[in-house]
Amino acid sequence: MLSIKNVSKKYSNNFTALSNFNLELERGIVGLLGANGAGKSTLMKMIATVSKPTEGVITWNGCDIHKNGDELRHALGYLPQSFGVFPNLTAVEFLKYMAALKGLNMKKAVNRINELIDLLNLRDAANKSIGNYSGGMKQRIGIAQALLNDPKILIVDEPTVGLDPNERMNFRNLINSLSKDKIIILSTHIVSDVEASAEKIVLIDKGKLMCFCKNEELLNSLEGMVWECLTEESHLKEIKDNYITGNIIRRSEGMVIRVISESKPLLNASSVSPTLEDAYIYYTSRKRGGNIE
Ligand SMILES: Nc1ncnc2c1ncn2[C@@H]1O[C@H](COP(=O)(O)OP(=O)(O)O)[C@@H](O)[C@H]1O
Ligand SMILES: [Mg+2]
Repeated sequence: MLSIKNVSKKYSNNFTALSNFNLELERGIVGLLGANGAGKSTLMKMIATVSKPTEGVITWNGCDIHKNGDELRHALGYLPQSFGVFPNLTAVEFLKYMAALKGLNMKKAVNRINELIDLLNLRDAANKSIGNYSGGMKQRIGIAQALLNDPKILIVDEPTVGLDPNERMNFRNLINSLSKDKIIILSTHIVSDVEASAEKIVLIDKGKLMCFCKNEELLNSLEGMVWECLTEESHLKEIKDNYITGNIIRRSEGMVIRVISESKPLLNASSVSPTLEDAYIYYTSRKRGGNIE
């Protein structure tokens, strides 16, 4: 189990990127959702022991990972947000190189690399230079290196950036297919990346934990609060100024704006089912004070 207790991170320029963060994770897929700059990578780097908290502790099975990180690092697979590959190496060469860096037994690693090449659908490209790979293929190499040691805790930071819609879908299916006995933490600023696969969502905004709950709990918390209102274009600004609003769609009869509000915002408003995007907009809105508890 991974436990994050009262963790804050202040960078050397005195900027607090994460404040008083608390989280306990057991196995399953967790979606770490937050805008650019929210503090997702900061949190992930600390869990991966490549950065230290300024305050608080992170423990893995009860052991402080910044005092003794060996156990965690053996159990860890990490795909950082900016992951460089060596363009002249082939997939197999690169994975062997990474396995050596990780200190894995080479005989076992070669078998594992073979398995991963198939799991990640890279067989046809396995002996070609990574420099010629598409964005999606490079991302799969990144995942493969993170899975080399069959990690108990897998951290993938913004893995879908730069992927096309098909590659995105394939990536989601891949994450879903991974064995469920590990903790998988996946960060993204794109709601649809975690909507289908994550069992739990961590919403993070400006370095603060806004909520940590099951996907469906998040949706339930907004039940009866999401509305669609048909209005004229000239009224949109007023609605946006007064309410927390989401998508605006142009239809032949006028503009339809999504509003999140406890009370009915307009006479003609019709109640609709909440989506994860609504929850994200609501819990990260400046118009709303406080967090979910
Ligand atoms: N090394 C650093 N020094 C100073 N500020 C940083 C550093 N790294 C990140 N930040 C700032 O901390 C905030 C959170 O960054 P980050 O964790 O990368 O966010 P996210 O991954 O959610 O986009 C941002 O405002 C970013 O500019
Ligand atoms: Mg980031």
